[in-house]
Amino acid sequence: MVLIAHISDLHVGSINFKDELLINAIEEINSMNPDVTILTGDLTDNGYYLEYERAEVYLDEIKSPLVVVPGNHDARHVGDECFEQLIKSRYGSLKVKKQGLKIIGLDSSEPDLDYGKVGRSQQNWMENELKNADKENLYKIIALHHHIIPVPKTGRERNVLSDAGDILQSLMNGRADLVLSGHKHMPHVWMMENTAFITAGTVSSLRLRGNTLSSFNTIFIEDEFIEVVLNRADGTRKCLAKYENTCLGD
Ligand SMILES: [Fe+2]
Ligand SMILES: [Fe+2]
Repeated sequence: MVLIAHISDLHVGSINFKDELLINAIEEINSMNPDVTILTGDLTDNGYYLEYERAEVYLDEIKSPLVVVPGNHDARHVGDECFEQLIKSRYGSLKVKKQGLKIIGLDSSEPDLDYGKVGRSQQNWMENELKNADKENLYKIIALHHHIIPVPKTGRERNVLSDAGDILQSLMNGRADLVLSGHKHMPHVWMMENTAFITAGTVSSLRLRGNTLSSFNTIFIEDEFIEVVLNRADGTRKCLAKYENTCLGD
């Protein structure tokens, strides 16, 4: 069994950021001992250096390997430079070889803009990374902040990737297994062919929609099936999706 924790949209620095929500979520994740934790952006609210410094303190508490990509809020006020100074490079891939995973992290942010774009050079890089992962028979996970497919219950659609169609085509051609995003603060799963497009809610802010709670997702990859679970701040859990695993053990 492989366990992935997916958190997003911390928004450190916002008046809606709640320290205890993040501390509790990290404690819960550490107790689950996941193989990798993936953070899909909006670590900060304004991209300020001081917000990154605060975010870094929390991230240091995460015990599993960690993949982080920036969100639109992280690219405000030259935050993209702070991200590289304090967190890590804005895109790149991580192999968790023992578990047969490859996580390909993309930077979909644009300085001081809310909409997202992957761009041609990153798209080409991603296509190559997917091909290489196939050669090694690795389970392919893409992480990026902006959603590629619109998410229900989020009002008028905006700030989707400007090159969503091209990226979606590359993901289908490259047979990505999981595509993890954040941004809309609304947990959801879309299936397209054998690819699951999973969005996480906000883990530690009160910028919520309706009567939802802050949350994070966990993804269980078993031999027979894959299950995506929503973990709410009040301790309750809900299965978001469960589907046949057609990938591992091929
Ligand atoms: Fe956000
Ligand atoms: Fe966002």
